[in-house]
Amino acid sequence: GINGEDRILGKDLGQFMSGLHMEDLVSKKREQMLYTAPDGRMVTLGFSSSELKNTEEKTQGYIIIFQDLTEVKELEDRLRTSEKMALLGQLAAGLAHELRNPLSAISGAVEILGSDVKPTEDNLRLVRMATQEVERLNLLVEDFLILTMPIQKLTTQVDLGLIISDTVESFTKTIRRGNIEIVNQVEKGIYVQADSYRLKQAVWNLLLNSVDAMPIGGLIMIKSSTEDSSAIIEISDEGKGVDENFISRIFEPFFTTKEVGTGLGLAIVQKVIEGYNGNINVISSRGNGATFVITLPRIKGVPADVIH
Ligand SMILES: Nc1ncnc2c1ncn2[C@@H]1O[C@H](COP(=O)(O)OP(=O)(O)O)[C@@H](O)[C@H]1O
Ligand SMILES: [Mg+2]
Repeated sequence: GINGEDRILGKDLGQFMSGLHMEDLVSKKREQMLYTAPDGRMVTLGFSSSELKNTEEKTQGYIIIFQDLTEVKELEDRLRTSEKMALLGQLAAGLAHELRNPLSAISGAVEILGSDVKPTEDNLRLVRMATQEVERLNLLVEDFLILTMPIQKLTTQVDLGLIISDTVESFTKTIRRGNIEIVNQVEKGIYVQADSYRLKQAVWNLLLNSVDAMPIGGLIMIKSSTEDSSAIIEISDEGKGVDENFISRIFEPFFTTKEVGTGLGLAIVQKVIEGYNGNINVISSRGNGATFVITLPRIKGVPADVIH
């Protein structure tokens, strides 16, 4: 960051690079340090020094080479952070896995307690609460494991329309909430490469969010279209929409605006869809509902080995 010979020539090092002293530099062969450049930037400065000798082996001066290592340093730091994150992820996955057995032991024990010949009204309420909370923990652990496990490389070709109508059917049977109408306009015969179980789960998570966003009910619309080599699914609702302040964060694991949310639903959806080389986007603003758009690579025509 120093320009102009006149600012350097004939001057002592400390005069144009404040805080640096020739004696310090030449006493070390090679080192790194933090240095404030004339423009105010904090840089990681690397230097190496070597003596300049004449033919009689007498020291004439020194050659000091400076190098701006700021970017290299930043890259190193970032790498270290991502390694740490990967390690943490592995540990957490291991922990979640270990939680499964005790959880099923607890739910078994609670079930037996509940079937006690004559539990009091109060005890029955407690048993029910314990059952519910264990179930919630189970789902959390399950979701967490899905998120941390790699998506299987797949070879099955599935009918998107079929997957969606199956999901909608079991969803309406399981989640009974008033005044929710689901209109599914997805036609059969659009094929993608995916795992039907995971894909159903992704659609399920989106439907569940839409239901959550419409406490007094409303319409959920599912549509499909195709572009040359991609299949597009749109799931839209008339719910409260996503606040623009955090729309960029909703796919982050553990991001939730709900009192009892896990914040894992959309992270899973994104992981699943991206695992099949697709992508997912959201169009929404507060008060205007939300539309989630999934794009997946499409297999043209009817594949021979389609799984139903
Ligand atoms: N259809 C939707 N309408 C409005 N907000 C949504 C919708 N889907 C997701 N969100 C927002 O994204 C957040 C994250 O969703 P998700 O990952 O499924 O976790 P969770 O449902 O446990 O909160 C939700 O808490 C909510 O704020
Ligand atoms: Mg959710």
